[in-house]
Amino acid sequence: MKIILLGPPGAGKGTQAEFICQDQGIAQISTGEMLRAAIAAGTRLGEKVRDIMAAGGLVDDETIVALVKERIALPDCQSGFLFDGFPRTIAQAQALVDAGIAIDHVVEVHVADDVVVRRITGRRVHESSGRTYHVVFDPPRTPDVDDETGEPLTQRADDNENTVRQRLRLYHAETRPLVRFYTNMSATSATRYSTIDGDGTVEETKDAIAAALTGV
Ligand code: AP5
Repeated sequence: MKIILLGPPGAGKGTQAEFICQDQGIAQISTGEMLRAAIAAGTRLGEKVRDIMAAGGLVDDETIVALVKERIALPDCQSGFLFDGFPRTIAQAQALVDAGIAIDHVVEVHVADDVVVRRITGRRVHESSGRTYHVVFDPPRTPDVDDETGEPLTQRADDNENTVRQRLRLYHAETRPLVRFYTNMSATSATRYSTIDGDGTVEETKDAIAAALTGV
């Protein structure tokens, strides 16, 4: 199964991706996570993307497509994968088509902009594991401390209101056109397209996605 999870920043893509990948037994490919790992490791790629990401910009298509192609060639992608945060532009989506990578299901998680801002500004992360919390919607047992390790939680460099607004502007300009790209594709190929209302709770969204994937 090859799935694309499409949606604005803070839609809950990362949260839902974990459930779907566990359920389907497929690899989760988050381009954002891969880029943050490169920054943390101090690689050339990390140096190149650090400022772009902190400012809420998009990394260039060529870099992202090369990263993804390398990733899906790894053995854990043999039985399928889920893209979380990719593609983000028409050029990235077209690169998948050109490489002959057929997607089974595109799931769009639709969330209103003001909900996105509340979710992102309240997000806290445990850096080494990637565990995510929210100060109101999914708080840790002790404020600002990871439940499992007791280590401090941090806020992503791009999780402030100004940067979120910039990421939302780019989402509407560059990524939303993929809705038409994939609805057109679903009309002429085996790729399925579903839109989910992601404004509800984590559980409600999880159930809606599971129903869409099983065709209920
Ligand atoms: P990336 O890491 O992909 O960030 P994003 O798309 O902006 O998405 P987020 O990780 O912010 O949110 P999410 O939808 O995963 O939400 P989450 O589940 O965490 O990309 C970061 C940057 O990398 C980009 O800005 C760009 O610079 C670069 N980049 C990455 N991919 C690229 C590409 N393909 N091309 C070019 N550049 C690229 O949830 C958010 C919060 O809400 C959490 O606190 C969570 O607990 C909470 N929450 C989740 N669901 C719910 C719910 N239903 N109700 C209440 N709270 C909820």
